[in-house]
Amino acid sequence: MSSNSQKSTSHQPVEKPWSGRFQESTHRAVESFTLSLTYDQRLFSFDIQGSIAHCRMLEQVGLITSEESQQIQQGLLEIKAEIEEGKFPFRPELEDIHMNIESRLIEKIGPTGGKLHTARSRNDQVLLDLRLYLREEIKYLIKAVSSLQTTLVAKAEEWLGVIMPGYTHLQRAQPVLFSHHLLAYFEMFQRDKERLWDCWRRANVCPLGAGALAGSTLPIDRQIVAKLLDFPSITRNSLDTVSDRDFCLEFLSCASIMAMHFSRMSEELILWSTAEFSFVDLPDAFCTGSSLMPQKKNPDVPELIRGKTGRIYGHLMGLLTLLKSLPLTYNRDLQEDKEAVFDAVDTLKAIFSVITPLWEKLSIRPQVMHQAASDEMMLATDLADYLVRRGVSFREAHRIIGQAVAYCLRQKRKFSELSLAEWQEFSPHFSQDVASVLSLQESIEAKKSLGGTATSRVREALEQARKVLQDEESN
Ligand code: ARG
Repeated sequence: MSSNSQKSTSHQPVEKPWSGRFQESTHRAVESFTLSLTYDQRLFSFDIQGSIAHCRMLEQVGLITSEESQQIQQGLLEIKAEIEEGKFPFRPELEDIHMNIESRLIEKIGPTGGKLHTARSRNDQVLLDLRLYLREEIKYLIKAVSSLQTTLVAKAEEWLGVIMPGYTHLQRAQPVLFSHHLLAYFEMFQRDKERLWDCWRRANVCPLGAGALAGSTLPIDRQIVAKLLDFPSITRNSLDTVSDRDFCLEFLSCASIMAMHFSRMSEELILWSTAEFSFVDLPDAFCTGSSLMPQKKNPDVPELIRGKTGRIYGHLMGLLTLLKSLPLTYNRDLQEDKEAVFDAVDTLKAIFSVITPLWEKLSIRPQVMHQAASDEMMLATDLADYLVRRGVSFREAHRIIGQAVAYCLRQKRKFSELSLAEWQEFSPHFSQDVASVLSLQESIEAKKSLGGTATSRVREALEQARKVLQDEESN
């Protein structure tokens, strides 16, 4: 049982709710093999919330009396308190949290407790709990993404004006504003939130009432349960309801994509903090040392984030594989869905707990970045565009500047060291104003196309980003 588990009683044969048709008691090894209580106990509050709604529905349609309903609800609330206070007698022999709670209810209030499971199966109950759980956790994660984005926007504002080399193939390509780079992360995380919301919508559908697989002969009203639990809709097909784990897969896909973004960001932080780049200084509080080399300051936090991405991908692959070839409807294989989802949630939460404060405390080395961006070769495209503005076709301009690049490399000279006469050897379209193209700041400011790195565009993007976050906050 996990460390936060509650006390559990010693192993005594406990009658299982389903034991009626069995002649033999369950093998001990089978009990522990099939056990999910160790991890599904985290669903307890959702299980009780769902049971209370189910119970109220049973009362409203007349399947139980209002006294019975009161007794059951009271019992469930007491059980909730027992669990919260660490006083609940968890019994691993009862497989999972659902049977533990139901058995305890019967123990507490007597046979009336046995009415709670009327027109319900663990198959739809498990789905209800999991959907309630994910619905809440997804909202939490979306908030966490927003708060990271808020930090990134604040940093982008603080560091507006800092120029760095933009890269392709990890080779210096064109100068960009560091803030523009930070806002690229903002966009990734914005898509992550959109994906999570989309996943949330499909998780937010009420499955209860599907029964084991076929629905119920009893006059239940699924709409009542859905309404009580604030689900805007109910699942349409009972067979699909108990076998569907698409919403878990979708969540793990969202989680994987988000983890991939964290991993790319981490990789950049690791690179930038090397002596070779030296663009950033990771806060001491977020680094660790070496047990052997006294001088070391290692970027373990971004490294571990990068590493944890693997386990999240693993959960997605694991669940996809689990679901492949599963016949309809419920199969016990499906019990393996939960650990994947829980661990992905926990891992993302753990990442958020370090990545946002790390960015808050990060310091950068603007001069080093500027120096790295000052390689004039990165202005070659600006020179080609200069010729295009003078009527040269882009292909021709590319060729001409390519020759100028080769010339400079041969002569070990910079563009800015060439005379006008030399430029005109390459093309008669060059005139005195070519010098103005060879300014780092000019190169940045000239990238005024929508989404470009000009300061004016980045300012606009910052404003939009702030507005997006504000609108989300007020909704
Ligand atoms: N612990 C099981 C799960 O998580 C509950 C459902 C059991 N249903 C069954 N038919 N055995 O999937």
